[in-house]
Amino acid sequence: MKVLAIESSCDETAAAVVEDGRVPLSSIVSSQVDLHAKYGGVVPEVASRQHLLKIVPVIQEALAAANCTLDDIDAVAGTRGPGLAGSLLVGYNAARAIAFGRGLPFIGINHLEGHIYANWLVEGPEPEFPALCLVVSGGHTDLVFMRGHGQYERIGGTRDDAAGEAFDKAGRLLGLPFPGGPHIARAALEGGPSSLELPRAWLHGTFDFSFSGLKTAVLHTVREGRYPVPEIAWEFQESVVDVLAGKTARLARELGARNILVAGGVAANARLREELLRRSPVPVRIPPPKFCTDNAAMIGAVAGFRLELGERTPPDVDIFTTNDWA
Ligand code: KG4
Ligand code: ZN
Repeated sequence: MKVLAIESSCDETAAAVVEDGRVPLSSIVSSQVDLHAKYGGVVPEVASRQHLLKIVPVIQEALAAANCTLDDIDAVAGTRGPGLAGSLLVGYNAARAIAFGRGLPFIGINHLEGHIYANWLVEGPEPEFPALCLVVSGGHTDLVFMRGHGQYERIGGTRDDAAGEAFDKAGRLLGLPFPGGPHIARAALEGGPSSLELPRAWLHGTFDFSFSGLKTAVLHTVREGRYPVPEIAWEFQESVVDVLAGKTARLARELGARNILVAGGVAANARLREELLRRSPVPVRIPPPKFCTDNAAMIGAVAGFRLELGERTPPDVDIFTTNDWA
């Protein structure tokens, strides 16, 4: 079954063709990152209008790259939420309109579930259940226990900033371009251990996270002016990675998970990948970076599994913007 999947929840317009929920035949992403960089963050109205400009060319490109026309497509999927309302509406409604016009099944997909299912787009043996998922993106930091397909139990998450948000805010304090994550990772390569010690919020006895104290510590360190940017970037990254990898590995052990599945934009971070692999008691799966950051192939992966179970989304179903695992 070939699914045409569309994703526009934030600032990437994306379309993909995915076969049987596992094989990405194409994955096209048009990023607006340069457009938003001058504002230091995503401007919702700029994002939705840009989606409107890009959505049709991106879909055409995804079909062409998969050597397909709409005649070859069996079903259509669109991201339903969470995300920015104006952004979601563009891709979700484009997907529904194609399905309606062609008389094809349509399904709306949870963006967070999409990030997790990027782990099914990788060649080789499939992830095993029960699995512990660490979802780390610009908007989320969640530890989710997954007993089977579509079954989620959220065990912990951030109490303030998401991990990606912390990278982005720290990046801004360090005078690095938006989004901070990849730029901090790059700057850290020129840094290394120094006498600088930034705090780690362990929140013992819980599997929650907090990054706001770390952000404040970065602010004070920058103001103090004693340490160069690469050293602050290095220690900041170590602090985030230490807590994320430490807590995830411990929870996997406690729950008897058979795999750790990492997902979301921050999963592209090389140090996080390295530390999770080093500390985890079980095999760790991390999608390649192009499937960690927002893309539509991951939406097509979830759609493949859910459509096979007979799920369809009726036309009177709205998008949603709140964080929701149900
Ligand atoms: O999943 P994603 O593409 O979009 C959301 O759904 O939020 O995640 C974007 C986030 C941004 O905060 C960005 O700074 C972060 O992922 N990110 C990284 C790296 N690449 C992207 N953070 C740390 N290291 C990276 N290499
Ligand atoms: Zn995302």
